[in-house]
Amino acid sequence: MSSSIKIQQVAVIGAGTMGMGIAQVAAQAGHQVKLFDANATQTARALDDFASRLASRVKRGKLSEQEAQTLQARISAADSLSELADASLVIEAIVERLDIKQKVFAELESICSEQCILASNTSSISITAIGAALAHPERLAGLHFFNPAPVMKLVEVISGLATAHEVRDTLLALARDWGKVAVHASSTPGFIVNRIARPYYGETLRALQEGVSTPAVLDALMRSAGFPMGACELTDLIGQDVNFAVSASVYRAFHDEPRYRPSLVQQALVDAGRFGRKTGQGFYAYQGGKPVVEA
Ligand code: NAI
Repeated sequence: MSSSIKIQQVAVIGAGTMGMGIAQVAAQAGHQVKLFDANATQTARALDDFASRLASRVKRGKLSEQEAQTLQARISAADSLSELADASLVIEAIVERLDIKQKVFAELESICSEQCILASNTSSISITAIGAALAHPERLAGLHFFNPAPVMKLVEVISGLATAHEVRDTLLALARDWGKVAVHASSTPGFIVNRIARPYYGETLRALQEGVSTPAVLDALMRSAGFPMGACELTDLIGQDVNFAVSASVYRAFHDEPRYRPSLVQQALVDAGRFGRKTGQGFYAYQGGKPVVEA
């Protein structure tokens, strides 16, 4: 691989909370983006929501009609993985499961060109382990955005054992070109932010389980202590299912280290399908993605 890999067309797999946000970031940077989700309804919904957000920005004078149309035209839905063949960068943002990610990347290897960089937005899964399923793991890296991707500045670029330096450097430069603060980390469980932030979620969930207080009080207290969000509202934004899967993955990867043990309170939310904002109910209730404020 050459040391200056030019990224033109970008593909994003997974049109959920993160995938759509990442597609938007790439489109805003001028790339044509193909968006694929195993659930075509989800892709359509994500693109509709994006169009509504653009329309609202036009209405508020934050964006011209022309800019909105240009952005919208840059992101198109793909009906199958094979439509991603022209991409020079594929970013995967699907369910946080090693076996499913491996399967998707192995399939991409037979579809994409040899120069195409494969990147995972995984929060916690080992890039080395995902790469073990590939014939060319040197072109795989982590490209970890934070939620919401268009707003949050930080991007972690993660190298697995086999990741080529050129791939790492290309992604660091690209993320900076996209206006992000890019940091490099080697592939250890949870990388940097998800490792250090996990005890914040974990201790809040333990306090809840012990009946110390309510989500609203704990969140308000942490906000007044200077944190931008309390852990309950933050995990509702992340997705309780996603946050739980990340905790379970980090816990397992550290060989059942008690500090990272997943919470039964969170498990109950997941079992109930109360994933947070995206399902309209988590610790709090939501309507149209916004918290319902009780009178
Ligand atoms: P999500 O649940 O909102 O969206 C995932 C999407 O992937 C769904 O629309 C689903 O239909 C699709 N999908 C599942 N399996 C698929 C497959 N085999 N092929 C194609 N599409 C498939 O999840 P979210 O929150 O967007 O997370 C995605 C990834 O990003 C996960 O690895 C997660 O750990 C990571 N992440 C999540 C953050 C968050 O705050 N939610 C922050 C940073 C990373």
